[in-house]
Amino acid sequence: MNDNHDCVRAVHWEDNALRLLDQRRLPTEEIWLTLADTAAVAAAIRDMVVRGAPAIGITAAYGAVLAARHRYRSDPLAWRQTLQADLDLLRQARPTAVNLGWALDRVSACLDNLRGDPEAALLALARELHEQDIAANRRMGDLGAALIEAGSGVLTHCNTGSLATGGYGTALGVIRSAWRQGKLNAVFADETRPWLQGARLTAWELVRDAIPVSLVVDGAVAHLMQSGQVQWLIVGSDRIAANGDVANKIGTCTAAIVARYYGVKVMVVAPASTVDMHTACAADIPIEQRPAEEILQLAGRPVAAPGAQAWNPAFDITPAGLVDAIVTERGVVERPDATKMAALMG
Ligand code: MRU
Repeated sequence: MNDNHDCVRAVHWEDNALRLLDQRRLPTEEIWLTLADTAAVAAAIRDMVVRGAPAIGITAAYGAVLAARHRYRSDPLAWRQTLQADLDLLRQARPTAVNLGWALDRVSACLDNLRGDPEAALLALARELHEQDIAANRRMGDLGAALIEAGSGVLTHCNTGSLATGGYGTALGVIRSAWRQGKLNAVFADETRPWLQGARLTAWELVRDAIPVSLVVDGAVAHLMQSGQVQWLIVGSDRIAANGDVANKIGTCTAAIVARYYGVKVMVVAPASTVDMHTACAADIPIEQRPAEEILQLAGRPVAAPGAQAWNPAFDITPAGLVDAIVTERGVVERPDATKMAALMG
């Protein structure tokens, strides 16, 4: 039990190295990996050791520190050119979460102003991004919780908590804050096939932080909403377009459509770094396709009929018109559209 209902951290910089809690192994094993170079960091992002848009961005910023150290020590004169290839490798690790490119843009801007060994400045930047993310999450927690009436039930999808961010979480941060304020009667998490982020990760975090959670299968979302037990669907995002369209874990759009049908409100919680004002609308958001084996197998064992194929988009788009509120650390946008998003982002 802790006062804050917030004890999990999954990204650490320790002894001059990047340490990640291997999210593929949760909840059965808590294994920490120490990453020494760019290729290992890019692989950790691609292979879901670390996942969740803000956590991916923070990890990439620490990855840039490792890359810069190696390149500068190898060639103190020509390190900038070779470092660029490392930053490109990190940028390509996953396509949908815009926080990855956002963090690497910050790294590039920092490098533009540097002379000499870049390691210390890049480490200071990575630490700053990490701390800012946690502070933004706490602010969003307050703003989002203020929208929720006492006695409410909530449903969340995927994992948007400390594991998916620098700490505290986006949608799960709102749930943490609302729980602490005594506003929630019930917290439901859906399993989130095929990676089971809800069953494996969200449930693990909430149980550790002493917040009671009930799992439902993804297919139970309509029946749950019809039963009247939830008043809010609260989710995160991997990229919010300039018109308020929301890319998030596959299944989010389904839940949002059902929510509208049953009068359940939809809250999207994401830092301003997730808002991509260069992407006009849903059609411009790249959707990651992942291997068919993620559907055809479970924990490495076949679960589908031999010979079956699979189509495995990792994200979907919830149109802005289905969203009741976008919560960022800059403020809340109700019923988002292009004009309101532009005003929010300045
Ligand atoms: O494939 P994942 O696990 O990286 O997908 C994560 C999500 O879709 C989250 O909802 C999103 O990144 C927001 S996390 C604060």
